[in-house]
Amino acid sequence: MTDATSYATAYNAWLRDPEAWWAKEAEGISWAKKWDRIFDPSLGAFGQWFAGAELNTCYNCLDRHVEAGRGNQTALIYDSPMTGQIKHFTYADMLTQTEKMAGALAALGVGKGDRVVIYMPMVPEAAVTMLASARLGAIHSVVFGGFAAAELATRIEDAQPKVIVTASCGLEPGRVVKYKPLLDAAIAMSAHKPSNVVVLQRPQAEATMIAGRDVDFNEVVAAAAPHACVNVLATDPLYILYTSGTTGKPKGVVRDNGGHAVVLWNSMKMIYGVDAGEVWWTASDVGWVVGHSYIVYGPLLRGCTSIMYEGKPVGTPDAGAFWRVISQHKAKVLFTAPTAMRAIKQQDPDGKFARQYDLSQFEALYLAGERCDPPTGVWAHELLGKPVVDHWWQTETGWPITAGFRQFGLFPFKPGSGGRPCPGYDLHALDDDGKLLPKGTSGNLSMKLPLPPGCGPTLWNNTDGYKRSYISDFPGWYRTGDAGVIDEEGDVWVMGRTDDIINVAGHRLSTGSMEEVLASHKDVAECAVIGAKDDLKGQTPMGFVVLKAGVNRPEAEVASELVALVRERIGPVAAFKDARVVARLPKTRSGKILRASIRRIADGETAPVPPTIEDPQALEDLKTLLQH
Ligand code: COA
Ligand code: AMP
Repeated sequence: MTDATSYATAYNAWLRDPEAWWAKEAEGISWAKKWDRIFDPSLGAFGQWFAGAELNTCYNCLDRHVEAGRGNQTALIYDSPMTGQIKHFTYADMLTQTEKMAGALAALGVGKGDRVVIYMPMVPEAAVTMLASARLGAIHSVVFGGFAAAELATRIEDAQPKVIVTASCGLEPGRVVKYKPLLDAAIAMSAHKPSNVVVLQRPQAEATMIAGRDVDFNEVVAAAAPHACVNVLATDPLYILYTSGTTGKPKGVVRDNGGHAVVLWNSMKMIYGVDAGEVWWTASDVGWVVGHSYIVYGPLLRGCTSIMYEGKPVGTPDAGAFWRVISQHKAKVLFTAPTAMRAIKQQDPDGKFARQYDLSQFEALYLAGERCDPPTGVWAHELLGKPVVDHWWQTETGWPITAGFRQFGLFPFKPGSGGRPCPGYDLHALDDDGKLLPKGTSGNLSMKLPLPPGCGPTLWNNTDGYKRSYISDFPGWYRTGDAGVIDEEGDVWVMGRTDDIINVAGHRLSTGSMEEVLASHKDVAECAVIGAKDDLKGQTPMGFVVLKAGVNRPEAEVASELVALVRERIGPVAAFKDARVVARLPKTRSGKILRASIRRIADGETAPVPPTIEDPQALEDLKTLLQH
């Protein structure tokens, strides 16, 4: 769709005339009604794209490919080493199942604008349910299976779903995670109750059903009449995806239909170099934005074959699992998190497994979710002999902010850099007063408004929160919350968050929410949680607590209660396994806990004593405690 043949030409074409650029990219989407305005600055927090246009996202993902004669092409390959199954679903199969699931949801009263919470593992029915919700013009909200009941309850309460769709269980290595009791507990905790729960029974752990509320997934689908697509406005929400914010309350990032379809359709080719009929694999989870954009919507919008993998990079059965999947299904491109590569590297540093498989059709590895540490990037590059591209984005944007672009020719490999801004983002580093910084200077990575299509236009029922979180600090700009440098050649180096968000195995978590949990323990007077460096997961949380005066219990006992409490309230995904009891926390004279100093000590770095410190001995004590 684009005339641009090189990155610079394309980027400048966009910069000169963003509306013309997006109007052209929008030709890749089938619209029920064309837009009144490409961009309407009067709408929403900073304007909205494709105002007045109508479409259906599910139609664009499924029906139009079948209508174009590609019904027999495989749309989804379900590859599950956890169950020993591999299943292929053609576009025609996916359409039939989605039409029926949409009919089933409609029969349960779901219509345009209603919310459907999806709490499911990596099974094809999760993708079918997302698409069925989109087909009805409803709004889905997928919750990752590794969250605890309390986190699920917060999301249910905020999204107020009419129906929740779940599976009886998820499968983790060595353990069956029973989803249904977690969901029942979450619904009990939530003030909002769904009218129905649709349960996919998996043989590994059948769920007990609650009469009058719970219905069986397969039974309702079998009984349903196929449902046609309901057109929605381009600016209507397609989904809400909750992500960690700086407080314990997660943020419901809203994604609209039109801009989302345009940018995902475009990015599959422009960034990843994958087109209709080609096989693409994103090893993530449908519970994360990466799964939404690049397991389900992006590849299906483009007409690709998408692999849905229920397994791990190692242990299912070994460190060759990823290379087996790529080779067996002939995937051209793999997108995963650096932590997955680190896990493989730890177990198979010499790449013996990779050499057992024919990877000749494999063309590139894309990494995101956290910064790829250079040794891992270099290792993967040397092992595969193929481009390794780190690219940076976040739940809020829904698609990459910076990347390497296979359509334009990749940039020279610079391990540690996240590539250059995608057309659509006018990215700069700003100082803390919002002033532009010169190239090569580290600052707050921020985009000039408006954000491009596809980026979250608001937070669910919380436009003020959106403004506060992202666009009011630096008027006219969107603040990403990441710090970094843009070098002389335009390559972007993302160095870390400016808030309390940490990245554990590519999973975004808030240390603030973990502190809230620790502080709720009856014996804890005050606490701090930091993200310490971890060879496998990038970061892992570490908690430090001061006990209330007079509490005289064994420290190990309190610590294990704290670990259990975080697992119970936030979930196993928090990977909170290290709590330490300390006599005092290092603080400034004004009482602010010196978390950055604690983190440096935990990482074995030298931590200069801040001039504002109240009690330098507290830092010294921590150094002794954490001596490496
Ligand atoms: N449902 C229930 N529990 C889950 C879960 C899910 N969908 N996903 C993870 N968990 C659990 C794990 O079983 C683990 O529990 P444990 O404490 O009992 O062992 C815990 O949450 C932490 O999981 P994780 O951080 O994934 O660690 P791990 O040690 O199980 O695996 C990796 C480490 C690197 C192999 C794994 O993180 C991985 O495959 N990462 C791939 C990258 C990825 O998917 N990133 C997402 C964003 S792109
Ligand atoms: P999430 O919203 O879960 O996708 O997490 C987004 C955050 O992860 C970003 O704000 C970054 O802090 C971090 N992140 C994601 N991808 C990268 C990357 N390629 N390089 C550096 N940080 C990244």
